[in-house]
Amino acid sequence: MRCLGGPPSFSDDQIRDVHRDVKISEDGFDQFIELFEEALQEAELEAADVAAVVQLCETKRPLVVVR
Ligand code: HEM
Repeated sequence: MRCLGGPPSFSDDQIRDVHRDVKISEDGFDQFIELFEEALQEAELEAADVAAVVQLCETKRPLVVVR
């Protein structure tokens, strides 16, 4: 999961640019978080690790969601 805390392979500007035309809404991002969280739980990650990954994703929300 390099773009979620490991050595960064994408800058914030790159993440913003690549999602601009994808037009992801706040609701769409909420759905992504919900599904990703479920998948991590099903993969039996520790609850604290799931929470840490979700929190990292949330830091990228403003770059990904189109306002
Ligand atoms: C934490 C949230 C997210 C991160 C860190 C993230 C990161 C990235 C990165 C780094 C790329 C570029 C990959 C590459 O060029 O090889 C990418 C592309 C893409 N992402 Fe995300 N993403 C996130 C959320 C989402 C969500 C929620 C969606 C849609 C529901 C999405 C849809 C896409 C699409 C369609 C592309 C390809 C765009 C293109 O090439 O034109 N992403 N994402």
